[in-house]
Amino acid sequence: MGKILVTGGAGYIGSHCVLALLDKGYDVVIFDNLSSGHIETVETLKKYGNVQFVKGDLQNISDIKFLFREYSIDAVVHFAAFSQVAESVKNPQKYYLNNVGGTMNLLSAMLEADVKKIVFSSTAATYGEPEYIPIDEKHPQNPINPYGQSKLMIENIMDDYDKAYGLRSVRLRYFNVAGADSQARIGEWHTPETHLIPNILKSTFGEGKSFKLFGTDYPTKDGTCVRDYINVEDLVRAHLLALDYLQKGGKTNFFNLGTNDGYTNREVFSACEKVTGKNITCIDCPRRSGDPASLVADNTKAKTILSWIPEKTLENSIDSAYNWEKILEEKFKKENN
Ligand SMILES: NC(=O)c1ccc[n+]([C@@H]2O[C@H](COP(=O)([O-])OP(=O)(O)OC[C@H]3O[C@@H](n4cnc5c(N)ncnc54)[C@H](O)[C@@H]3O)[C@@H](O)[C@H]2O)c1
Repeated sequence: MGKILVTGGAGYIGSHCVLALLDKGYDVVIFDNLSSGHIETVETLKKYGNVQFVKGDLQNISDIKFLFREYSIDAVVHFAAFSQVAESVKNPQKYYLNNVGGTMNLLSAMLEADVKKIVFSSTAATYGEPEYIPIDEKHPQNPINPYGQSKLMIENIMDDYDKAYGLRSVRLRYFNVAGADSQARIGEWHTPETHLIPNILKSTFGEGKSFKLFGTDYPTKDGTCVRDYINVEDLVRAHLLALDYLQKGGKTNFFNLGTNDGYTNREVFSACEKVTGKNITCIDCPRRSGDPASLVADNTKAKTILSWIPEKTLENSIDSAYNWEKILEEKFKKENN
């Protein structure tokens, strides 16, 4: 069997997927431009199986075509993208060029090499402002920012490529991804960090730090936003099931990846205090624009068709994230001394 190409494999979710693929005995090629991924992560992954790393940029079509000529690729798992919502509003060009343009180049290279299976990181942001909760896959897709729009455009392009060229895709629409490798080998490592859990946890390090909570007057049980936190190890397991599905001839499809369960920001905050055993100072701030009150997945379709069952709790995610944050904190301390 050929290798699995993982674009964005040096990043947060991609690297966890590489570990899961290696665990199942797959040979992996990582393609990443290290714009937000880390070479240290790649070096760690190399300890756990047959991984090759190609540094390249999806926006440069010759980089990705070279890869398909050099390696025998069986299927692609495509994580590489920019993913900061606020930045996408300020600089949509950056997002369309990288996410849509980069994916177009990837698909061209796949067609040239006759590789016709792809698992793609889509997002709950393709749904936009929810019309009902929990959100199933029949919910209209009306993204409210260029990031979500870029992902929806890719989903639509993938449908056309299936009809015209027989390129089959599974699009996985993630809700809020959380946690780290349970052995703390790798974890979430974004600069800047925009996600709730790592930011709460980071505020436990050092004296006098506090955490800003945006929006306390939403129509939810305690006034703060509700989100569905899916553990990263559970999430990447769904990618392996999606690969199996495509390898067995499954048709192009799309699935929500979430837990069917929502937690308010205050509940997440309390859970972080419980797991870390620390009192964290929280400053209530006004709402940020573009944050829906509640986002919770209906994951019945992934359960039924992919036989995917998320197993980890919110506390499991916070616990593994905290173990990883402590390692990152030590690393930064050493580097700054
Ligand atoms: N983190 C979440 O909660 C979440 C939620 C929904 C969807 N997603 C999607 O999941 C995917 C992975 O997210 P993440 O949190 O791991 O992000 P990340 O930034 O950690 O990883 C993205 C990786 O892609 C690489 N990359 C970006 N543009 C590239 C290009 N042009 N060529 C080659 N490599 C490139 C980066 O260097 C990085 O290693 C993204 O597509 C994101 O949109 C993430």
